[in-house]
Amino acid sequence: MRDAEFGDRRARARERLDAIDPHMREGGAEADPQRKGWFEAVYELADDDPAGVPWANLVPHPLLAQWLEGRSLKGLRALDVGCGLGDNAEALAAAGADVTAFDLVPRAVEWAQRRFPQSAVHYRAADLFQAPAEWRGAFDLVHELYTLQALPAALLPQAARALASFVAPGGKLLVIARARDEGQQAVRPPWPLTQAQIEALAVDGLRLVSLEDIPADDRLMRHWRAEFAKEEPAK
Ligand SMILES: C[S@@+](CC[C@H](N)C(=O)[O-])C[C@H]1O[C@@H](n2cnc3c(N)ncnc32)[C@H](O)[C@@H]1O
Repeated sequence: MRDAEFGDRRARARERLDAIDPHMREGGAEADPQRKGWFEAVYELADDDPAGVPWANLVPHPLLAQWLEGRSLKGLRALDVGCGLGDNAEALAAAGADVTAFDLVPRAVEWAQRRFPQSAVHYRAADLFQAPAEWRGAFDLVHELYTLQALPAALLPQAARALASFVAPGGKLLVIARARDEGQQAVRPPWPLTQAQIEALAVDGLRLVSLEDIPADDRLMRHWRAEFAKEEPAK
């Protein structure tokens, strides 16, 4: 629930978090190349106030909600990557999917569970780069929103392989991210993705099947919404 001072608290939190983000200062990236310490610090410093978590809007993302409109995920096994406080995972579950949702930060996962005590979502603490072996090829729909753009570009090939590994034959990967033009500098995190960076997620049997370039409006910046499919093996 947002109260009257939510916006002020978020602005103050952003300032604090930028000040300790190693990727915002010269040479800092080597100290925390995957930003893991920073993600831990975000949830720690938020101290159970969602205003302290810059991406926590406490509702499903509008571009996911729109994609889900009129679509049933009944019977599908879905994975929500970097689930944060759980709103997108809950939207996937409300559409009928059997959802596993994971985040690097145990405190985020516990918080999501507390927010949705009756939830059917299986919340887990796990690292995208060291995911449980049983997730290999185990999901009909893998959903990723804003985690890729929060990672330094050098990690994207490794992240792409991890995402592809979760998708079952015949399954889908759905990616939603902020967009930028080729050649446009992204100087500070989050780093909006280029079309080439989206296309480069088509690895290890994944094929790009649709790429929407969604222009900015008064609520949202420009975004990509991309779907990838993994072919069924030939019989
Ligand atoms: C920008 S936030 C987006 C959260 C959520 N998807 C949303 O849109 O509200 C990125 C999330 O990914 C998590 N994360 C970062 N690195 C990760 C990793 N290696 N494995 C799993 N989760 C990670 C962070 O803790 C954070 O909650």
